[in-house]
Amino acid sequence: MSSIEDVAAAIRSLRPRKVVAFTGAGVSAESGIPTFRSAGGLWRNFRAEDLATPEAFARDPELVWEWYEWRRQLIRDAEPNAAHLALAKLDDALVVTQNVDGLHLRAGSHEVVELHGNIFRVRCTREGTTSDAPGELTEMPPRCACGAMLRPDVIWFGELLPDDAVARATQAMREADLVLVIGTSGVVYPAAGLVALCRGATVEINPQASALASGCTYTIEETAAVAVPPLVDAILESR
Ligand code: APR
Repeated sequence: MSSIEDVAAAIRSLRPRKVVAFTGAGVSAESGIPTFRSAGGLWRNFRAEDLATPEAFARDPELVWEWYEWRRQLIRDAEPNAAHLALAKLDDALVVTQNVDGLHLRAGSHEVVELHGNIFRVRCTREGTTSDAPGELTEMPPRCACGAMLRPDVIWFGELLPDDAVARATQAMREADLVLVIGTSGVVYPAAGLVALCRGATVEINPQASALASGCTYTIEETAAVAVPPLVDAILESR
């Protein structure tokens, strides 16, 4: 385990040119959005793995939609926190996120790969077309103009990640001098496997060491809003 100061000093001497932030639910925890696998992450005692699957949607689309509506409301009411805002200051860094909450974009990051989609978009289950989700759902489950059900435009367990997102994230990870691994348990693949592609330095920021910690160059056991801003300052100072 390393201190923020020690890692900031290492970053200043590394002078990283290509930086990637790989984020998970923990980066949004201090915005008030519960993570999936910590206490408080359960909705009506369902685990994400019970709801975020094509099978769960086929069985009970209303239940799955209710869960997404609950999360959409939480996210609408939330604001980006100090970690999102600090990362947005790195205008040439790529943010590769597993989150569907759109908070990196709201914080001002321009280069964001959303590996698991975005909760504010919907997709027609027949035509595959995507659009912005209606602000309020007038019917449950909501339907496309063609009559078929709409689903959230997110990636569920057992589904393939979008090719373009994976290709962009893979290339960025391979080329990165520094990857900040922020707030992910690192147990959901293929996303978690991207970190191992980095040949540069990797820094985990997580109050509890994750499944990726042992493969990281440095691990900082702190929250994102505490540790990310000084590390971003160190990156900016090194330039
Ligand atoms: N700052 C940093 N990390 C934090 C904070 C915080 N304030 N609070 C919690 N964490 C850490 C937890 O210790 C945990 O390791 O964030 C991690 C959250 O893990 P998960 O809930 O498993 O979220 P994530 O890794 O993003 O899940 C991956 O699983 O359910 C699917 O598709 C969903 O994208 C999601 C994927």
